Amino acid sequence: MEVDRRAFLATLGVGTVGMLSPEDKAEALEHYMMEKLDEVVSPVAPVLAGDGDQDGPQAPRGVGNLFRPSDRIFEPMPAKPTLEDFFRLRFAPANHVLQSAAHALKTDQPEQTVLACLLHDVVLNLIKVDHGWWGAQLMEPYVPERVSWGIRYHAPLRFYPDDAVGYEYPEMYNRMFGEDSEPEPYIRQAYEFARDHPWYMDARLITLNDTYAFEEGVEVSIEPFIDIIGRHFKQPVEGLGFDNSPSAHMWRTIANPNRPL
Ligand SMILES: [Fe+2]
Ligand SMILES: [Fe+2]
Repeated sequence: MEVDRRAFLATLGVGTVGMLSPEDKAEALEHYMMEKLDEVVSPVAPVLAGDGDQDGPQAPRGVGNLFRPSDRIFEPMPAKPTLEDFFRLRFAPANHVLQSAAHALKTDQPEQTVLACLLHDVVLNLIKVDHGWWGAQLMEPYVPERVSWGIRYHAPLRFYPDDAVGYEYPEMYNRMFGEDSEPEPYIRQAYEFARDHPWYMDARLITLNDTYAFEEGVEVSIEPFIDIIGRHFKQPVEGLGFDNSPSAHMWRTIANPNRPL
């Protein structure tokens, strides 16, 4: 995907670019690219009111997609919603995660990696700040431990190359933010922990598949992943949000963005 540096920087807001950490800027860029990707493929992508409009009040950048100002009407969820229902009714078009899972599938990566790719960024609909950590907690009760572990650490690993698997520091970050960007200490710490952990590749493969998942004009459906979800995602019989799990409230929040309390 081609990104217009000036158009992107305009969305950050006049005068704020210098105040953002490299991590914040990289997050903002990734989210901008995902939104552009969804806009190209599907007109149902949320309208991101406020973006680029420097006059009116802005939603904080860390707010999730479902909670940004828009004209979107949220379709009601079924009484016992499944992961597939969330994809269809709340995460769609979700092109970035679908493309990354499709790449994992096409290159014969383990099924749990395919699932991790499919789920790795869907929490951005709820919240963007520290999305690896939030995303891991959202999924933890329902997926094998290595899947949520990988989701947690894909976020810090994005900033560090690994020649052995062919993951390079994103050239786009250099172009957008300059070559002297240094991630914050907590990001480096998390990276070093993950790098020395036996499950390192579970997170690293997510970052690798990520780089193949910003293809304009490539639309992927959820269909090829239904069996893998069935085998590895513990769908609660009560429905996501109603099983009293530690993250059930997060699923309810995604289901009901308009509730005032
Ligand atoms: Fe991510
Ligand atoms: Fe991603």
